[in-house]
Amino acid sequence: STLTCGIDIGGTKIAGAVVDATGEVLAEARVESPATDAQAVETAVASLVTRLAGDHSFGAVGVGAAGYVAADRSTVLFAPNIAWRNEPLGDELARLTGLRVVVENDANAAAWGEFRHGAGREVDDQLMITVGTGVGGGVVSGGRLLRGAYGVAAEVGHLCVVPQGLPCGCGNLGCLESYGSGTALVRNARRNPSPELLARAGGDPAAITGPLITRAAFDGDAFAIEQLAEIGRWLGHGIASLVAVLDPGLVVIGGGVVEAGDLLLDPIREAFDRELTGRGYRPRAEIVPALLGNRAGMIGAADLARE
Ligand code: BGC
Ligand code: NA
Ligand code: ZN
Repeated sequence: STLTCGIDIGGTKIAGAVVDATGEVLAEARVESPATDAQAVETAVASLVTRLAGDHSFGAVGVGAAGYVAADRSTVLFAPNIAWRNEPLGDELARLTGLRVVVENDANAAAWGEFRHGAGREVDDQLMITVGTGVGGGVVSGGRLLRGAYGVAAEVGHLCVVPQGLPCGCGNLGCLESYGSGTALVRNARRNPSPELLARAGGDPAAITGPLITRAAFDGDAFAIEQLAEIGRWLGHGIASLVAVLDPGLVVIGGGVVEAGDLLLDPIREAFDRELTGRGYRPRAEIVPALLGNRAGMIGAADLARE
């Protein structure tokens, strides 16, 4: 069998898996992400790979990285939420592990995973949006991953949705990520929490997290439900513009916040249905959760390493 290793480097965690050619995960492991130190991230990834290699042998590593990955599929040119500036991530990891390493944007990798082995198996044109620390995007068009001229296409989190709006980690103002990410969800809820949510957090606004908001929303907490709806509306707004450009057959939503299910997806769908150009006169792309859940990035990265 041809096994490869898939790694997903996000703003808060690093996850790794050994994956076979059918997308099956044979082993997995995760560690916290030392996001503020590029070298520490590389050391952490290398030890994760070594740990996984203890039980299964694989010849290549695919890495999904939350940043702008150059066309060489090694260099991370820039990242809004991790300390990467022109970082030769793939070369460094190859040196540390002795294996062939392919680096791809994390949301591109997740989109590829869903397209190959998840929700998008039946379509040729798929838009994926990941909602976590940042907002990521991945586009499969005519069965191919859209990379652009320089490797950095589909940075949908940095669509400007509010001119002169809230600051973003990318340095611009008013990016979708500043309104529709898990970070925005938590920021909004901490600013003016309901007494019920605050009580769940033991009275400390700083203890309010995304999973806490989602749990409260599942229990029927109206404030928590509205917090999810707020970021959902922004995402639906962005997706309407993206669908106007890309005309995908399916929109897949992934990332940690999609654990909230329809409490996030329904507000996305409603805003999308209100705003899509030509609505009512064109086929409507379904908006569905990632079938592979938070493993989409690892599975996609592993598959990209196999090609
Ligand atoms: C980054 C993307 C990444 C996304 C999700 C954004 O802030 O610009 O490169 O895909 O976060 O991690
Ligand atoms: Na992307
Ligand atoms: Zn931005």
